[in-house]
Amino acid sequence: MDVLILAGGLSHEREVSLRSGRRVADALIDAGASVHVSDVDGEILGLIDSLRPDVVWPLLHGATGEDGSLRDLLELLGVPAVGSDAAASRLAWSKPVSKSLLAREGISTPASVSLPQAVFREVGARAVLERVVERLGLPLVVKPAKGGSALGVSVVHEAASLPQAMVTCFSYGDVALIERYVTGVEVAVSVVDLGDGPQALPAVEIVVDDGPNDYDARYTTGRTEFFAPARLSAEAAREAGRVAVTAHRSLGLRGLSRTDLILDDAGTAWFIDVNSAPGMTETSLFPLAAETAGYRLPELYLRMARAAHP
Ligand code: DAL
Repeated sequence: MDVLILAGGLSHEREVSLRSGRRVADALIDAGASVHVSDVDGEILGLIDSLRPDVVWPLLHGATGEDGSLRDLLELLGVPAVGSDAAASRLAWSKPVSKSLLAREGISTPASVSLPQAVFREVGARAVLERVVERLGLPLVVKPAKGGSALGVSVVHEAASLPQAMVTCFSYGDVALIERYVTGVEVAVSVVDLGDGPQALPAVEIVVDDGPNDYDARYTTGRTEFFAPARLSAEAAREAGRVAVTAHRSLGLRGLSRTDLILDDAGTAWFIDVNSAPGMTETSLFPLAAETAGYRLPELYLRMARAAHP
């Protein structure tokens, strides 16, 4: 099988994508596939036309990768590709949209407000932020409405820190999502979908040594401790799996996804977001969950490539 892996791109997550691409390529080569890894630029159409791969595996994270635009192109070309189609990718890429779709399915998600940068110009930042704090209380999490790898995310404990958090957030995108901060155990549940329905992999618990689960903690080996499977009761683990499969199904995702959740003391699993192209690096959670479930990555990735659809 000839697989073309697309990795890199121009988003803030370029480096992560290159690392994901290398890991998946090595595993597929190990499984006997013939693999070509390429960055994504204006030559992409010509490249696909000349290579004529059996399958494309887009491992682009962030804008132009996870936002559906590359998938639109692949769908136009009719090339089988691993993962979700353009429409589903768009739903997952927008945190406000995925949160409201999941809330309609009866899934808990932290109360939030979406704030376009333009609103500050029209109404004034001070007045808007006062209303946000009145409505959601403190602490809060400020994050780009569309983004990944915790880039541009701040946890705000006092109202005085909110303006700086907004500035940081707007340097990654022009809409901010401000969420009520939920305390609990942070877990990620990956889902694999080999064509016979989505299967939740064991939840992975994330414990950062010191400080928040930010970009540095995610991609520096040793900064974060993972418990795989997560130290949860059987009931909590089932609930986390149910939320991840509901997210995968209700957004129409395919192939793979990873849902990030907070499990609070009362047993509620709070949906935070779902990733249609989860990281596949050496410190990423999807590969760890798959190995915890007993999969060998080379065989699993080959099966995922075989299950790709045009
Ligand atoms: N956005 C990164 C790659 C992740 O969620 O794993």
